[in-house]
Amino acid sequence: MSSPHATFPPAAATLSELPRHIAVVMDGNGRWARRRALPRIAGHRRGVEAIKNIMPLLRTRGVQYLTLFAFSSENWQRPSSEVTLLLELFASTLENEIRRLHENQIRLRVIGDLSRFPHALQNRVAESMALTRANQALNLTIAINYGGRWDLTQACRALAELVERREISADAISASLLASRLCTSDLPEPDLFIRTGGEQRISNFLLWQLAYTELYFTDTYWPDFDEQHFEQALMRFASRQRRFGKTAEQIQAAPIQAEAAAPAPA
Ligand code: FPP
Repeated sequence: MSSPHATFPPAAATLSELPRHIAVVMDGNGRWARRRALPRIAGHRRGVEAIKNIMPLLRTRGVQYLTLFAFSSENWQRPSSEVTLLLELFASTLENEIRRLHENQIRLRVIGDLSRFPHALQNRVAESMALTRANQALNLTIAINYGGRWDLTQACRALAELVERREISADAISASLLASRLCTSDLPEPDLFIRTGGEQRISNFLLWQLAYTELYFTDTYWPDFDEQHFEQALMRFASRQRRFGKTAEQIQAAPIQAEAAAPAPA
C-alpha cells in the first residue's frame, strides 16, 4: 500500500477521477480517546476538529457533497451518558459553526429521524437548513438518528400510502420513484465511501445509495484522519475503474461519467 503522504493528483488524474460525493463513517473516536486515557467524548470532540480540518481540502479537490454519519439509529443503545454528550456535541457544534458554514457558502442538510430529538434542536436544525439553502460551494449532510433500513422503510411507507390513496398504481413503483422518497433524494449517489477505524462494514449507512459506490477502508482513527489521509483516499479512488455493471472493454471504448450512471439529484 502506498504512503498516505504521496502527492495528489497523480499525473493522469482528470476531474472525472475525482469523487463528486463522499460519504464517511467516522469510526475510531472512542479508541483514539482510550489510547490517551481520555473519556470517549474527547475522541468525538477531536472528531469534530477533524471534520473542520478537511473541509478546505474538499473544496480545492472539487468535492461537492460530503455526507457524514454522526449518529446512527443503533447508537441509542450506547450508555446514556455517551448518547447525551454526543447529542450535546451535535447541538453545540451546530450553534457554533452555522455562521461560518454560511459565510463559506456551505449548504447544510441534516437527514434522519429527528422526531426523537427535543423540539428546540429540531427547530434549530430547520432554521440552519433554511439559512444555508441557497449556498452552492459545498453540500454538507449530517446523518443523525439515521439508518439505511429506516430510510428505505419510510420511503416504502410513503409509496404504499400513495397506492392506498390510489394516486399511483403498484406497477408505477420503480427504482427511481423509490429513490425520490429517500431522505437523500436531492443528493447524487456517493462516489466514494470512507470508513476509518479499521472495521470493514457499512453499518446500516446509505444502504440503497451505496450500490455502486467505491468503498475505502483505513485503520486510521477518525480524529487522526487529516488532509494527507484524505488525499490518499482520493488517490485510491482515482486508481479504480468504475464499471457500473459493464465490462472493462466497454468502459475503455466509451468511458462513463459517474453523473451519467447515477440518478441525477431532483
Ligand atoms: C464512531 O466512533 C463515531 C460516532 C458514533 C460519532 C461520530 C460523531 C462525531 C465525530 C461528532 C458529530 C458531530 C457533528 C456536529 C457532525 P466510535 O465511538 O464508535 O469509536 P470506537 O469504535 O473507537 O469506539
